[in-house]
Amino acid sequence: MKEIVLTTAPQNGLQGVLNVPGDKSISHRALLIGAISQGKTIINHFLKSQDCLHTLQALRQLGVEISEKNDQMIVAGKGIDHLQPANQPLDMGNSGTTTRLLLGLLAGRTFNTELQGDASLSRRPMKRVSEPLQKMGAAIKLTSTGTLPAIIQGKKLRGKRISLEIASAQVKSAVIFAALQADGPTTIIEKLPTRNHTELMLQQFGAEVVTAADQRTITVLPHPQLRGQLVQVPGDPSSAAFFMAAATLVPNSAIVLKNISLNPTRIGFLRILQKMGGKVSVLKQANVPETYGDIKVESAKLHAIELTAADIPAVIDELPLVALLAASAVGTSKITGAAELRVKETDRIATVTAELHKLGIKITELPDGMIITGSSNWQPRAYQLDSHGDHRIGMMLAVAALCVHQSLTLQQADAVNISYPNFFTDLQQLLGQSKQVRL
Ligand code: S3P
Repeated sequence: MKEIVLTTAPQNGLQGVLNVPGDKSISHRALLIGAISQGKTIINHFLKSQDCLHTLQALRQLGVEISEKNDQMIVAGKGIDHLQPANQPLDMGNSGTTTRLLLGLLAGRTFNTELQGDASLSRRPMKRVSEPLQKMGAAIKLTSTGTLPAIIQGKKLRGKRISLEIASAQVKSAVIFAALQADGPTTIIEKLPTRNHTELMLQQFGAEVVTAADQRTITVLPHPQLRGQLVQVPGDPSSAAFFMAAATLVPNSAIVLKNISLNPTRIGFLRILQKMGGKVSVLKQANVPETYGDIKVESAKLHAIELTAADIPAVIDELPLVALLAASAVGTSKITGAAELRVKETDRIATVTAELHKLGIKITELPDGMIITGSSNWQPRAYQLDSHGDHRIGMMLAVAALCVHQSLTLQQADAVNISYPNFFTDLQQLLGQSKQVRL
């Protein structure tokens, strides 16, 4: 429940070069896939945030040996059949990714597992995962409202053709992990393409996971011989996005963000910022197995944008920041087709609207999005902002504060520890006000 004073209206722009922490989605997957492979998996630049540490702890409870040295993790994989039953329920904390991926992975084991989560995670929908898994023969018991706690009874699974109703990489990945254990091939058809880190990493470890040219039909062959690998985790583009927005909005800024994932399924924010008039350029460095590179961002004046359903999956976690960019752009922006925001760590349509409204921004909630009218002169109506316990809302508000002249505080600032424990220290560094900020 930490309250902090936010930096407002900095004297100088953001300057310098920053290495942002490792990608959250890739860090989770590297642990999970390392755990079910044979031999050593070395993970460099692993994201040591609360969410990923819940995956680490859960795997240890399932009998996997994992050692750590700074941000390097070493997984001593013995293969999926060597996972052991946990002697108590697994604590998922706030992590939807840990929960949903483990539902698929554990559905095909020979033992039972219980998954529990914190208050926010225990409100989030899990039927979207249990229903497709049940079609493959899984037995997963949820509460009557379709939420955690979940009891997974390990079963023999069948390879199937599964059409997914919701564009979600977490649901897709759960089905892929189940498909690895099925009695025959599985084909998954997505509504829209979503982030494909599970597919790319499984290919690297030796699995046959094939994506068709439409980018949304994935075929998985069961029982691959997975072998431990070296995984270099690129910088998280969803974390980099906070500094991309800050450098755009604060005059006289010029920053470089190093080694950021440029996976095409993750660069929605970069593309949208460019479309709005942002000065962003990319120096491409490598593309095996994941594309990454350096991103340069300078201050810019923005204009409004319209986003619809097809735009959403590649920018799903950055939509609070798109709303912020729209709040200082010329014109009225509209985001639709983003009802998924209502079932993230908070209802992000409600929390973004409530908090930006405090800053005097003209913003209207839609059932599946927001309408935002930009202005260069915000008139705050309240000075105590709140992350609502949601890491991405907290970080977005810290960036918003840079555009405000009045003094502001942020309640529940420690929510940033979910995905970016050093966020405030890194922001201070780019603002030239280097000091360690511990929450
Ligand atoms: C994630 C997928 C996204 C994203 C989440 C991480 C993943 O969720 O919002 O932060 O690692 O697969 P959905 O796929 O459910 O939209």
